[in-house]
Amino acid sequence: MEFSIRALAPEKAKTGCLVLAVFAAPSGAQPALGAPVLMRTTQLADQAAAGALRRVLAQGDLARKAGATLLLQKIPGLAAERVLLVSLGEHDDFNVTAFREAVRGAATALKSLGARDAVLPVADFAVSSRGLPWTVRHAILGIREVFYRFDQLQTQKKPAAPVLAALTLAITGAPVTLRLQAEKKVLREGQLALREAVATADGVDLARTLGNLPPNLCTPSYLADQAKKLAKQFKLGIEVLERRDMEKLGMGALLAVTRGSHQPPKLIVLHYSGAGEKKKPLVLVGKGITFDTGGISLKPGGEMDEMKFDMSGAGSVLGVIHALAGMRAPVNVIGVIPACENMPGGAATRPGDVVTTLSGQTVEILNTDAEGRLILCDALTYAERFNPQAMVDIATLTGACVIALGHVATGLFANDQKLADEILAAGDDAWDRVWQMPLWEDYQEQLRSNFADMANIGGRPAGSVTAACYLARFTRKQKWAHLDIAGTAWRSGKDKGSTGRPVPLLVRLALRRAGSRA
Ligand code: BES
Ligand code: MN
Ligand code: ZN
Repeated sequence: MEFSIRALAPEKAKTGCLVLAVFAAPSGAQPALGAPVLMRTTQLADQAAAGALRRVLAQGDLARKAGATLLLQKIPGLAAERVLLVSLGEHDDFNVTAFREAVRGAATALKSLGARDAVLPVADFAVSSRGLPWTVRHAILGIREVFYRFDQLQTQKKPAAPVLAALTLAITGAPVTLRLQAEKKVLREGQLALREAVATADGVDLARTLGNLPPNLCTPSYLADQAKKLAKQFKLGIEVLERRDMEKLGMGALLAVTRGSHQPPKLIVLHYSGAGEKKKPLVLVGKGITFDTGGISLKPGGEMDEMKFDMSGAGSVLGVIHALAGMRAPVNVIGVIPACENMPGGAATRPGDVVTTLSGQTVEILNTDAEGRLILCDALTYAERFNPQAMVDIATLTGACVIALGHVATGLFANDQKLADEILAAGDDAWDRVWQMPLWEDYQEQLRSNFADMANIGGRPAGSVTAACYLARFTRKQKWAHLDIAGTAWRSGKDKGSTGRPVPLLVRLALRRAGSRA
């Protein structure tokens, strides 16, 4: 879909569909006072249509809740072929969640229309505490989320592709008070936000598609090929370490995880340099288990298919780099992706095996299903050579994190509070939210081993915390944060599929670190 932004008089917009926002009448109000409140553009359109929109709304056919829609055809006085009325819910309840519902509702309706293009007056949807650039970004990301499809593996009964090919975000033009100069500035800011949002949406789509691909197709080699494709497309630096490289380096923990699999492991390193050589890179390390059976500590069968999403951290790293390169962001980011499969087999690692990590520390592998931390610890040690400004790892690491935070917040752990605060703020900005968990030394004793420097599991209590504590032992020299996305990277059930989180958060983090305030 093509997005554009421009100043526009709504009644003159020759478009397949004009989207217009309305606040629901305050509930409990006297019927006489209980009229819906038309947003600015809606008012202008209603005037041009001689009150036709108010008359329709007075019939009560537009439901009150945010995101409800009502489609009207050929309103005299308006150049648009259709009008889509969208409810923002009640004025007093309007917030980020209601805004997102409204955008989602509008997008869902647009998706099934015959219209080839549409106009959406973006400022009418704005949440007052957030500016226009924020609104533009979130409108585009919300619409692209609804329009995302993954149907390349279905040969029958595919839903028809949406007809809508172009969406104009309109800045409703020419109020006398708004001087031309001010309008130009608004448009310029909007344009930048648009570019950023479209690139971010491309990154989210990539992460979602990599996550959704089945584990027989999305193997470690496939991830490496995708990284190579990205490198070619955007002229990025890339290295892919093979098993023999890992052996030479001494990545005993990563190698232990891959032993049961017939798929060769890959350690992918992608360099995006948009900020010049002197600037230290932000290093992102993504867990790339393309399928997690648990290994010899085999998982139970129910929903095991969902362990194809265990490479979501890796997918998000590729997504972020796609996004930043696509918008030519002035940042340096290095993506490090340990990719392998966790399978049982005659050569597989056993519970009780002791291995030596790249850091030199030894680990007793008491549970082969705690494999994420094993591949990550070697990748984190490896990443130190890039002299990072900070390291962030992203991993579907623990079921315990899902128990703690459900599917709403990503778990955040950090050894540097300033970095944690930045991530919290970026998450709020991107509405891709995280919640900080403790990384206290007190938890470290749960990782005690009688036979090695540490065990790879810490028992049932605080499972997501002890997993983070394990990683912390490999990042002591760095500013480091860990994002546990086990609950947020994908949805289960009827809407099973990858979410692309936390690509929006990480893109925002990288941009804010580079000084973007928008
Ligand atoms: N990939 C899983 C974590 C996971 C499980 C994410 C379920 C989302 C849903 C990870 O490799 C794992 O198996 N973790 C174990 C750790 C345990 C053995 C200490 C877990 O969470 O059960
Ligand atoms: Mn596991
Ligand atoms: Zn796993």
